[in-house]
Amino acid sequence: MILRSVTRSPLAVVLLPLVLAILDKNIGRHRHYISSGVAYQPEFTEPIVNLTIPVGRDATFRCLVHHLGGYRVGWVKADTKAIQAIHDHVITHNPRVGVSHTDHTTWNLHIKNIQEEDRGQYMCQINTDPMKSQLGVLEVVVPPDFVAEETSGDIMVPEGGLVKLTCKAYGHPEPHVQWRREDGNHIIIKEPSGLRTKVLLYQGELLRLVRISRSEMGAYMCIASNGIPPTVSKRIMVNVHFHPVIQVPNQLVGAPLATDVTLECFVEASPRAINYWVKKTGEMVITSSKYEVEIIYKSMFEVRMTLMVRNLELEDIGTFKCIAKNSIGEVESSIRIYEIPGPTKIYSPPEDMEEGDEEKLGSAERDGRRLDRGKLQNTATALAPRDTQRSVIDDNSARISSPMILITILLAAFLIFIPLAI
Ligand SMILES: *[C@@H]1O[C@H](CO)[C@@H](O)[C@H](O)[C@H]1NC(C)=O
Repeated sequence: MILRSVTRSPLAVVLLPLVLAILDKNIGRHRHYISSGVAYQPEFTEPIVNLTIPVGRDATFRCLVHHLGGYRVGWVKADTKAIQAIHDHVITHNPRVGVSHTDHTTWNLHIKNIQEEDRGQYMCQINTDPMKSQLGVLEVVVPPDFVAEETSGDIMVPEGGLVKLTCKAYGHPEPHVQWRREDGNHIIIKEPSGLRTKVLLYQGELLRLVRISRSEMGAYMCIASNGIPPTVSKRIMVNVHFHPVIQVPNQLVGAPLATDVTLECFVEASPRAINYWVKKTGEMVITSSKYEVEIIYKSMFEVRMTLMVRNLELEDIGTFKCIAKNSIGEVESSIRIYEIPGPTKIYSPPEDMEEGDEEKLGSAERDGRRLDRGKLQNTATALAPRDTQRSVIDDNSARISSPMILITILLAAFLIFIPLAI
């Protein structure tokens, strides 16, 4: 107000420095008055902000004070009454504690590398009489971690047995534990009442797998979380052991001589079995130009064994055995190959293929269906040598309906591409 009226006045330029000088003098006196601490008692201007700090990080409490005057600010840990610092001196022997202040108004208590023992209330005090104080709470949070002694490791169990998996996690707040299967399959919970429930997630530190079956074999993940990252998980392998079993889809396989025959056995075994084939002579079959042995692992305990006998001969007629052997036992199954008479030859000369092709085109015509591109392409694929399969058909040939013209074109293409392929 004074300033405004002064600046409006024509004498402002002259008077302003004078007015400012008077104001300044008043403020100066005011300051002195405050610092004497007589009329103005120190007071807190804001409450201490509570802190939630993950273990290992640093924390700073801030105590905001006005009119401190000649008084001093101290920090005390409220539960232990341990004095942390007075003014700018650290009293505690804890090397992680430090203090700082700015302008006698902001008083900081620093705690580095927070530990769980630091959790609690911290009091900012001013040594007035009576003493003034306010509290700040330090919450120390701890991400979950497994308690090794109380957490299961990989296990082996006979089929039908009982499995108890435990996962104990420590953390603050207390973590909760849940389970799931690594392969995404259901966990089967069997109650004593006989009730069975299938769940994708199971909550709790203890997971009981009652009368476990081979389908429950696999990796189980226990996951502990308490809202403080990172969430942790542990992979526990559950191996279910049982005697090997073989299933044979075709125990009698008929084939003409000079063809390739494939025999097939499905094995279930855990621990994993050794799988092999033997001939009627008892000799083990190994991959050669004559035989091709293949073992395909379909799951942890399922295996498909195949044996391809190439170019069937009279001496191949008879019984082959597939055998599976693991530490628990051994099982075998027989497959008998018998000869069926037949002219069918898989690797036949080109002339034979043309006849076959004519039949195919003929039947397609008889059905009254228009030959589409796809069909033509398939026919061409069957006809053409491998190297020329891609380029045999063009748009024009797709529209031709007479089988004779088609065959001519295909044959021409065939003849053109044979030299190219060579
Ligand atoms: C800090 O926490 C305490 C105890 O939970 C509470 O009484 C107080 O109001 C909190 N202070 C602030 C500034 O939120």
